[in-house]
Amino acid sequence: MKIGIFPDDDTIGQVAADFVEDLFTRQPQANLGLATGSSPLATYRHLIERVSTGRLSFAQGQAFTLDEYVGLDPQHPERYRNVIYRDFLSGVDFPAESVHSPDGNADDLAAAACAYDRLIADAGGVDLQILGIGSDGHIAFNEPGESFKSRTHPGVLTNQTRQDNARFFGSDINAVPTHCVTQGLGTIMEARRLVLVAQGRAKARAIRELVEGAVSIRWPATIMQMHPDAWVLIDEDAASELDMIDYYREVWEKSRHYRGVCSG
Ligand code: GLP
Repeated sequence: MKIGIFPDDDTIGQVAADFVEDLFTRQPQANLGLATGSSPLATYRHLIERVSTGRLSFAQGQAFTLDEYVGLDPQHPERYRNVIYRDFLSGVDFPAESVHSPDGNADDLAAAACAYDRLIADAGGVDLQILGIGSDGHIAFNEPGESFKSRTHPGVLTNQTRQDNARFFGSDINAVPTHCVTQGLGTIMEARRLVLVAQGRAKARAIRELVEGAVSIRWPATIMQMHPDAWVLIDEDAASELDMIDYYREVWEKSRHYRGVCSG
């Protein structure tokens, strides 16, 4: 993994957007993996700006979201499909039929999850997956104890995650769904490039485990250590529990010439 440590969220967003722009410039028909949540908002802002100025286009691409709550009304503002539309898709030019997400309201959730996994594979796989991280180390909605080989599946949300996400539901944990459908860790690991963004002290422990901890399903994101092309873009607060900050900064600076895609 390569670790980029930046002074603020906007710079993280700019660097992450550089990765996406680089992909779509080389490969306009690429498949982009989207995460919901607050972490990628600056990334999405930069991408929206680049599309609006004509510097970047997703018109030939496809988008795949990571996960969805189970049982929310289709019109519910916090349904992830609606969130990602509001935060990102409404401002860019993916054709509506090229945007895909797991179905959290299917009668047979397991079958719908399998179908979504197949859809991603049949599209040729995700070229670049944007990721956030939960304070308990989850990526997408893969909570501690999940299988590293898991495919897209229905799952149960921990109380920690429901507590973390209660801020989107009027600070009422009881309003947060108890279940989800999520791309599995095995599915996510098949994306050709992973770009994880995280900010703030609440993520510092999870980032420490991700970057310097043992690979363990106690901290699901640690599987990213096994990915050949994974990038972790964080601010100083999220980096605050890392032992080897100086080394990561040195590597980031000195690998500019072969990284080749970032302006940060
Ligand atoms: C949520 C989502 C993840 C997200 C993570 C962090 O529960 N399922 O996809 O990356 O938790 O969220 P945030 O970026 O709001 O901190």
